[in-house]
Amino acid sequence: MDGLHRLAIAKGMFYGAAIATRHLDDAAFVAALVQECGIIVSEWEAQWAAVEPVRGNPNFQPLDRLAAFAAGHGLLFRGHAGLWYKRVPDWFRAIEDRAEAEAAMLAHLRAKLGRYRGQAQSWDVLNEAVELRDGREDGLRRAVLLDKFGPGYIDLLFHTARAADPQALLCYNDYGIEYDTPWHAGRRAAILALLRGLLARGVPVDAFGIQAHLRVGSPFNADLWARWLDAVAGLGIKLMITEIDVADMSAPGDIAERDRLVAAEYARFLAATLPHPAMMGLLSWGLSDRYSWIVRGTEPSHKRPDGLPPRPLPLDADLRRKPAWQAMADAVIAAPKR
Ligand code: XIL
Repeated sequence: MDGLHRLAIAKGMFYGAAIATRHLDDAAFVAALVQECGIIVSEWEAQWAAVEPVRGNPNFQPLDRLAAFAAGHGLLFRGHAGLWYKRVPDWFRAIEDRAEAEAAMLAHLRAKLGRYRGQAQSWDVLNEAVELRDGREDGLRRAVLLDKFGPGYIDLLFHTARAADPQALLCYNDYGIEYDTPWHAGRRAAILALLRGLLARGVPVDAFGIQAHLRVGSPFNADLWARWLDAVAGLGIKLMITEIDVADMSAPGDIAERDRLVAAEYARFLAATLPHPAMMGLLSWGLSDRYSWIVRGTEPSHKRPDGLPPRPLPLDADLRRKPAWQAMADAVIAAPKR
């Protein structure tokens, strides 16, 4: 059976996954990656804190290796992230002078996007800028970037990104929007308003990245979701799923039952999302349960009460296709061609 990317290409979409450079030393994993994927994104090595932990001494070697791997295997390459409040270097946080901080931030963005100019299919120029719990009228997150520059930093980042790489699709990427809860609804409204404002001001945003970190057992309303996608796409931008995976901490331990529930979550979400005409494609946050932030337990909330390893991705830890893979394939096959 074809890999997921071949199935996606037949519908005018793409499929790929987030990886780290050390995964390239795992030959069996690389074989599966090349079989399934048409695009890769760096799981963490493009974050500013990873590139330039020491001021003035940026290291692009890991990212160069990923970009070269993509080019060598005919894969698209995408950038994540231009700026993310969680992964800025400590030395940047410590800069008190506003002009100095702005110059450092923009220099980093220009250097990073400029380096892969012509190679990057897209960049998440900005990641996770919305947090309603921070209590602002506009829903913007009170974190390092907003604290230093005020809300205008968002426009500045996108304008700078466009100049640094005029060919890459520039994305705003965010999470916590997919489900039918008041928290998700609030975030959907705030993100829509943010995007509307950016586009009304002529800020170059080309696409919205839906992270889609899903969870078994969450309430989903397909009609509500499709209407929100319509509203976002109606602003004149594209959509892509950028980080899909399914956390299974509320599913039973039994593997067959768990895999069935995880697959059903993929199926339900993708059936409501992939048919949208503005959807360009999807990437999962990892390809195999061998390498997943959920399995690593980066987020304590992803841990299962029974301590068993989670099974969030299309391939299992032995690189075998799971029911989740089949659910993704079926959803892609069912989607109309665009
Ligand atoms: C995660 C990565 O998988 C980890 O390697 C990192 O330590 C923490 O972040 N949303 C995002 C991603 O945009 O960058 C996050 O990735 C997952 C949530």
